Amino acid sequence: MPKLTVNNEAIEYRMDPRTPLLWALRDASNLTGTKYGCGTGSCGACIVDVDGKAVKSCRFTLEQAEGTFVTTIEGLSRERSHPVQLALIDANVPQCGYCIPGITMAAAVLIKRERAPSEEAIAAAIDNICRCGIYPRLIDAIQRAARAMHGDERLPAGPRTGIDPREAARSVPALDPDHAAGR
Ligand code: FES
Ligand code: FES
Repeated sequence: MPKLTVNNEAIEYRMDPRTPLLWALRDASNLTGTKYGCGTGSCGACIVDVDGKAVKSCRFTLEQAEGTFVTTIEGLSRERSHPVQLALIDANVPQCGYCIPGITMAAAVLIKRERAPSEEAIAAAIDNICRCGIYPRLIDAIQRAARAMHGDERLPAGPRTGIDPREAARSVPALDPDHAAGR
């Protein structure tokens, strides 16, 4: 059975070794931040970090992942404080957000090795498809993230994570049933 390390946890997947890593992560590990888009290696929605490389997990089997160290969007930063995340949030890059985990992982891999990636280098490394068309703001955000990663720029802290249920909902006087029914 394939054994690998996912977000710093050693895991044995009791699944067919031909299973794409994407489905092991989503279905067995409940790491649903990694998205399924095309399933053919074209869109990049499923990108995770495997041993420091951006890998399309829909086309990468558990057998291939044996012994590797995998980082998913959940493992990148629990507080959404990775420079790529802060730069994307600060520039309001995400629209529907579906492509964002894959783009974030690909960008995180890129800026680890590139201090000042050019537009061309970003276009070559991030071939992800975004149906919302975020590309112009994305290039700028990744360049800012690279500067922040290497200490050349400070990014504003992102929003608080999670919702405090005491703030999200509160008790109110009982509703008038006629009003609630629209009468
Ligand atoms: S779902 Fe893997 S590249 Fe599209
Ligand atoms: S933000 Fe919607 S697909 Fe990219």
